[in-house]
Amino acid sequence: MPKTLIEPFRIKSIEPIRMTTRAERERLLEAARLNVFQLRAEDVLIDWLTDSGTGAMSSRQWGAIMEGDESYAGARSFYRLEAVIRGITGMRHFIPTHQGRAAEKVLFSAACRSGQLVPNNSHFDTTRANLEFLGVEAVDLVIAEGLQPALLHPFKGNIDLERVAALLDAQADRIPFGMITVTNNTGGGQPVSMANLRAYATLLKRHGKPLILDACRFSENAMFIKMREPGYADAPIRAIVQEMFSLADGCTMSAKKDGMVNIGGFIVLRSDEWMEAVRNLLILTEGFPTYGGLAGRDLEALAVGLEEGMEEDYLRYRLRTAEYLGERLEAASIGFVRPTGGHAVYIDARTVLPDMPVAQYPAWALCNALYLEGGIRGVEIGSVMFGRRLDDGTETYHSMELLRLAFPRRMYTQSHFDYAAEVIADVKQHARSIRGVRLVRQPRQLRHFTCECAWA
Ligand code: F0G
Repeated sequence: MPKTLIEPFRIKSIEPIRMTTRAERERLLEAARLNVFQLRAEDVLIDWLTDSGTGAMSSRQWGAIMEGDESYAGARSFYRLEAVIRGITGMRHFIPTHQGRAAEKVLFSAACRSGQLVPNNSHFDTTRANLEFLGVEAVDLVIAEGLQPALLHPFKGNIDLERVAALLDAQADRIPFGMITVTNNTGGGQPVSMANLRAYATLLKRHGKPLILDACRFSENAMFIKMREPGYADAPIRAIVQEMFSLADGCTMSAKKDGMVNIGGFIVLRSDEWMEAVRNLLILTEGFPTYGGLAGRDLEALAVGLEEGMEEDYLRYRLRTAEYLGERLEAASIGFVRPTGGHAVYIDARTVLPDMPVAQYPAWALCNALYLEGGIRGVEIGSVMFGRRLDDGTETYHSMELLRLAFPRRMYTQSHFDYAAEVIADVKQHARSIRGVRLVRQPRQLRHFTCECAWA
């Protein structure tokens, strides 16, 4: 068997990349105040800012779009998608939303009260923000291995069952449900094992608490289970996915990830308990329950995308791309969160810039260096994103300085990855010339999106 794992698709429609020179990129980055969020996408060669809603749809999805039924109520497209989602999740209620955070807002508003507490392996930013907005405490309980970038473990997304048990014993009356994020995005796109999911669900059930999955990357998680968990090597992905959902009582989903679409999300629920409140809130903020903020054509594209996202050849190629870039980084002695996750590679900027003070934001500096050197756009997950300027002018810093390169689905080929590996290795070679930054303007919240920087 040949060792090269090829992209399991051919390209039918292309989108040109506009080439830029280093001198041009220097001008563009200065104009963007040294903040890659402020660049125009056209000025980026390889855009690895996020895997969310950025992937390429298949010819089958584009075909399905023409079948969209745009009726306000009771559209055919809704029932078609509902059948697909019921087949995967086995749950009775399916509620479409325009994206993941809308699903979070609607479900949490229906099911939570101020003063409560929700455990999770790691809450994604919007999940945490939507809970905190309602006065609910978001508690991260990922296993200790999940917080050590260089440490190898097959399921670094697992939740710490002992800490969950202690929390349930002490404060069950404050907990409306337990959540778990598959894969664990904030922790490096790391998977959760079936054994961990099952034990977590059992613990919750003992206290009468439902389990809600943050299911964005459920197919990637299932493929990791197939590849790494004893007993699953011969199981079809669909069966693994069905087993994962069988342990849960509901989910919030951003379909912009493993739904393989550019926009969309949903809630599924097994019981009727929160349904009336969910439906009323949905009508108030998203739309009628058979379209929930989406067009009929979006529902059609999602019905096809969910199935395509579970194809094993696709998933094998998908996980291999991240692993491949990881191997190239390792060869260049660049540290990253290991093993590589499903949708992204998280470079440990401190291994490239060990001497740069954290006050000059090394991961942000590395992000800018990748853009200048090769037109690559990643996202800083470090002290600009998670640090804060206090009223007395001092700063708090994040525990890690990571640069996330997140891969849109079915979009970049192996030569794009080879190019990126070469650029990153070159950047490391010239690390001494990389300049840190200082923040000259920043909003009070979510400062990474809009802050303005200058060279330190
Ligand atoms: N949950 C997880 C685990 C996510 O990764 C995201 C989005 C959401 C919820 C929210 O979904 O964007 O559709 O509203 N993650 C993107 C990212 C934005 O870049 O990681 P959304």
